[in-house]
Amino acid sequence: MSDEIVLRANDLKRHYLLPGSFYSKAATVKALDGVSFELRRKKTLAVVGESGCGKSTLARVVTMIEEPTAGSLQISGEELADGDKTVRRKLRPKVQMVFQNPYGSLNPRQKIGSALEEPLLMNTPLSKSERGGKARAMMQAVGLRPEHYDRYPHMFSGGQRQRIAIARALMLDPDILVLDEPVSALDVSIQAQVLNLLGELQDKLQLAYLFISHDLSVVKHIADEVMVMYLGKPVEHATREVLFDNPRHPYTKALLSATPVPVPGRKKDRVLLKGELPSPIDPPSGCAFHPRCPVVIGRCATKTPHLQSVHDAQVSCHLMDEVQTEKV
Ligand SMILES: Nc1ncnc2c1ncn2[C@@H]1O[C@H](COP(=O)(O)OP(=O)(O)OP(=O)(O)O)[C@@H](O)[C@H]1O
Ligand code: SF4
Ligand SMILES: [Mg+2]
Repeated sequence: MSDEIVLRANDLKRHYLLPGSFYSKAATVKALDGVSFELRRKKTLAVVGESGCGKSTLARVVTMIEEPTAGSLQISGEELADGDKTVRRKLRPKVQMVFQNPYGSLNPRQKIGSALEEPLLMNTPLSKSERGGKARAMMQAVGLRPEHYDRYPHMFSGGQRQRIAIARALMLDPDILVLDEPVSALDVSIQAQVLNLLGELQDKLQLAYLFISHDLSVVKHIADEVMVMYLGKPVEHATREVLFDNPRHPYTKALLSATPVPVPGRKKDRVLLKGELPSPIDPPSGCAFHPRCPVVIGRCATKTPHLQSVHDAQVSCHLMDEVQTEKV
């Protein structure tokens, strides 16, 4: 059942209310503003986009650290967005997070063995020796040595600490790992080792990954599907092959052209993104990308595009209106 759907998000939103003050009006930050996707066993969905487009907000909602403002989130077929605490508590172990900086999530005074056993102590009836056995087996699975069990976080390199964070995330046998920029803080050679480890673990443990990254060269290495986000909304969603070989949204093209992904024989037309990402408090009218879009047309400033199927991708852009095959 390798393509079993383990998570389904439908029109997921997370808005933050900023209270007004003497100097400013109350406002709403639409950090996540209508995102739909599915995660499948043994598959990786990568989420890409500039800083502030809502990637970590999506990660916090999917891992149940925060509740969505609207929309549906189903894990193993059960709805979570209703806020039923019993369902959330039951399903929480199934989705685990790995952060960019594992040092922040590891207690400097706690030995690695005990850090790995902690989730078992809190969530399972396993005995001390069973917890120890499981921690040691997981250390081996992520490439750590037995003697590391009694060491403290500061005694490890960045790559080893990320292995520890991955091991900790796996202690409760989750179905899904949400990886928020998991290799961004590592040297390129170490990145490759950690990405290879993630690939092996995915196969062995049948994991689904939601892989968040701003680095398209990393995404090209590991993703099965890619969702490109802009100001809290997906603008393009396709398989890795389709997205990299035939990007359709002007924003995806700009992101790709800004990334050194070598394609033999192809000369790259560089599209540079003008300006900064606008504020999600007051996004531009119509297509939110229009002030920066190199191929903007008349209706872009007034009419909001929606994701539509365009051959083998989903794209949200008025330029696709003529080639669309079916509304989604
Ligand atoms: N708790 C919060 N309260 C108010 N605004 C928030 C909150 N959390 C995030 N935001 C805003 O929501 C938007 C999306 O933030 P988010 O951290 O999800 O972006 P990101 O894509 O992860 O960025 P980065 O690549 O820098 O990690 C940003 O404008 C951010 O300022
Ligand atoms: S809808 Fe218009 S502004 Fe938006 S990406 Fe397409 S062409 Fe550019
Ligand atoms: Mg982030």
